[in-house]
Amino acid sequence: MLIRVLSIHPAHAFRMAMPLSHSPLLKSPSYLLLRHHSFAPPSLYRFLSFRSLSSPLSSPFSSLSSNRSSKKWKQPIAALLEIGGVKIAKDDVVKENDPTNNVPDTIFSKLGVELHRRDNHPIGILKNAIYDYFDTNFPAKFVKFDDLCPIVSIKENFDDVLVPADHISRSYNDTYYVDAQTVLRCHTSAHQAELLRKGHSHFLVTGDVYRRDSIDSTHYPVFHQMEGVRVFSPDDWAGSGMDATSYVAMDLKKSLEGLAKHLFGAVDMRWVDTYFPFTNPSFELEIFFQEKWMEVLGCGVTEQEILRRSGRMDGVAWAFGLGLERLAMVLFDIPDIRLFWSTDQRFTSQFSEGKLGIKFQPFSKYPPCYKDMSFWISDSFTENNLCEVVRGIAGDLVEEVQLIDNFTNKKGMTSHCYRIAYRSMERSLTDEEINQLQGRVREAVQSKLNVVLR
Ligand code: DAH
Repeated sequence: MLIRVLSIHPAHAFRMAMPLSHSPLLKSPSYLLLRHHSFAPPSLYRFLSFRSLSSPLSSPFSSLSSNRSSKKWKQPIAALLEIGGVKIAKDDVVKENDPTNNVPDTIFSKLGVELHRRDNHPIGILKNAIYDYFDTNFPAKFVKFDDLCPIVSIKENFDDVLVPADHISRSYNDTYYVDAQTVLRCHTSAHQAELLRKGHSHFLVTGDVYRRDSIDSTHYPVFHQMEGVRVFSPDDWAGSGMDATSYVAMDLKKSLEGLAKHLFGAVDMRWVDTYFPFTNPSFELEIFFQEKWMEVLGCGVTEQEILRRSGRMDGVAWAFGLGLERLAMVLFDIPDIRLFWSTDQRFTSQFSEGKLGIKFQPFSKYPPCYKDMSFWISDSFTENNLCEVVRGIAGDLVEEVQLIDNFTNKKGMTSHCYRIAYRSMERSLTDEEINQLQGRVREAVQSKLNVVLR
């Protein structure tokens, strides 16, 4: 909330909306505390309210997580996938010797999993509940897409939705690049322009999205979003006595308030003005749920330039984007984003098609184990890079990576101390296993990140 007060001036708003991991504030322990206590503080993360529309993790028992550390459990990653009719070989996506590529194996292994297409999975159940709302209220209007390929051009991901050339979200630190021109989409907005160009005027796009990020219980480098777009023509607003933008903004708010009610019941809601590159005006919808205000989605009236470039000169449109994990964690009482990737029956068997109201019953709480690690950083150090290295070794056994100490000595050398919390969702970890993991993490951090361990 504090953050929101700061982000008033539009010229600064986008800056404020930079991903948290790039904010100078991140270096401040007090800010970390703030982050820690809130449920993915909305505005600061947003590019793209991006960071807040969080993601999941592969289960400690899925192919790439905890199992990676134990050879006998290691499952091969499929080397050839087909997504939405596109054939993808591992070598097309992971190119270890190509400096313009930063996609690790762990991320490749998420491609094609498509949790949103599983009707018995919380993410699929939520997607279907949103579909139901649009089908009931706009019969046969919204066309749905849920298997568009997540490998997109930088033009689609950024340029087509007017993300400025120097926007932080374009950096290698934030986005997974397949090559200099191609990324793993970091939001479903990447498909807006193409679908508009194809002539669609009502559509919903659901998909897995990818962002390099820090590690905690609400952030995972792969998560799921749904994008909605509705285009109006002059006939729609002609009789309303309103200008087109006001008419469309009013319809947007009414439609999304209805959606929030459909999902959460009769809750208090409020609209907060915000900034996105692709909409003007832009809003966030918040609901009062479980004793606090929670951001549900970002939306707005589509920038006219996007419609113009798509050949829709006289149309005016609204658009919204929401993060499915974030909502599913609240709706199903799921405490950790890694659980979405769990293949443990004790998780998967609790959910069934069409049942939105079910509350997840934790099957047990295994204790966390904390390990601290201090090092002198170099100028190139970023927390996202650290988190990628830690995940690469520990997979889903890592629950959180938190900066707990930060100082600069008289010589100008800066030291960081990170606390890594290891915890499995599904079993107790042995001391020996954790010590081994931590040893490997230390080695990898030293060799890959150009830091000096203390
Ligand atoms: N793409 C935004 C994000 O990832 C979400 C979003 C906000 C989508 C506003 C929209 C929109 O279509 O109008 O944070």
